[in-house]
Amino acid sequence: MLGFMRPTLIYISLITILCNSCTNNNKQTLLGSICDTTDTKFSTFVNPLITSQCLSCHSNSLASGGISLEGYDNVKAHYTSSLMAIKAGTMPSGAPPLDYCAIKKIEIWIQKGANNN
Ligand code: HEC
Repeated sequence: MLGFMRPTLIYISLITILCNSCTNNNKQTLLGSICDTTDTKFSTFVNPLITSQCLSCHSNSLASGGISLEGYDNVKAHYTSSLMAIKAGTMPSGAPPLDYCAIKKIEIWIQKGANNN
């Protein structure tokens, strides 16, 4: 009986330890050691991101697809469709999709009221 129990117990403890370390790693990743969500302001995060990733096609003068994302009023008018396009990976067109953290920070800016802050 003991000869059978001992390896089983060790095996179960090992699995428990391994599972715990997985969980902790995931939590760290989700809780900010990688995604720093301190700054989700329009002026210091959202607008610079849109300027570098979107304005090459969505400036006032080009307005690809009839959409300008230049300046707060235009971004505010199109943030719902923009977030959808970003999450679907269709925008920015012809470039790698935005990463998880950037998307998360845009979502937080919207949840807080999409303010001109
Ligand atoms: C290389 C050019 C280019 C870049 C960069 C670009 N877009 Fe677009 N975008 C287009 C074109 C062309 C269309 C219209 C045709 C289409 O829908 O593909 C469009 C359409 C859209 C639309 C309306 C259609 C839809 O999918 O809902 C939204 C919203 C949009 N873009 C948002 C963005 C955002 C936000 C960014 C930056 C993260 C961005 N785009 C970057 C070219 C671009």
